[in-house]
Amino acid sequence: MIRLTSLSKSIRERNGDVRTLFRDLDFDMSASERSVAILGRSGSGKSTLLRILAGLDVDFGGLYSYDGTQLPKSPSSMAAHRLERIGIVTQAYDLLPDRTVAANVAIGCARRRGASARVAEALELVGIDHLASKRPTHLSGGEAQRVAIARAIVKRPSVVLADEPTGALDEGTEEEVLHLFERLQDGGTQFVIVTHSDRVAQRCGRRKRISEYRLVDVD
Ligand SMILES: Nc1ncnc2c1ncn2[C@@H]1O[C@H](COP(=O)(O)OP(=O)(O)OP(=O)(O)O)[C@@H](O)[C@H]1O
Ligand SMILES: [Mg+2]
Repeated sequence: MIRLTSLSKSIRERNGDVRTLFRDLDFDMSASERSVAILGRSGSGKSTLLRILAGLDVDFGGLYSYDGTQLPKSPSSMAAHRLERIGIVTQAYDLLPDRTVAANVAIGCARRRGASARVAEALELVGIDHLASKRPTHLSGGEAQRVAIARAIVKRPSVVLADEPTGALDEGTEEEVLHLFERLQDGGTQFVIVTHSDRVAQRCGRRKRISEYRLVDVD
């Protein structure tokens, strides 16, 4: 169970102004839920919210608890939380250009033992095993996005946080990725998906929108 209670966060903009992103924001995802979609306008804080859930941003007010235990807001305990349970599909993929696809996916492995078998399995799951030895610079946007998804799932995380995971994909490929996500959900992996796609949002169990610094329900 993931829970954010009374989350608050402000950012300092380039011109020095302070802008509130979140105020008194609550988020709950019970252990039995398969997926939640997070919607909101550009700049409303969706990626920031995922970074907080991932433990990558510890500069926030309020409480973050997982399975009923409050997570200390220190970079080291948040890193431990992330390593143990969280897979992240970042919005910009963040692939290392001088490493192969397989080496990029291996970065998502929490441990070295058995890593190559896990990498092969993840590449096959997302349908890009034939690209294992390519460099990211030689990939299409959709292929790069699948590498980012493989890197997120390679350690078989409890929770996948996906930031616009189908943003670069055509409808057919988006459908394939949604199928993959649903298969992983059948296996118990939970998904929090930031998306602008109505199709993706409709396939999630619940939809929330960032509005006036909080998360509100969407039909
Ligand atoms: N580290 C940071 N320091 C300062 N400002 C930041 C930082 N990260 C994000 N911001 C700002 O916070 C706001 C929210 O950014 P965020 O990336 O979370 O939005 P978003 O909802 O994901 O937008 P998009 O739909 O365009 O991806 C933006 O105005 C952005 O410029
Ligand atoms: Mg974003």
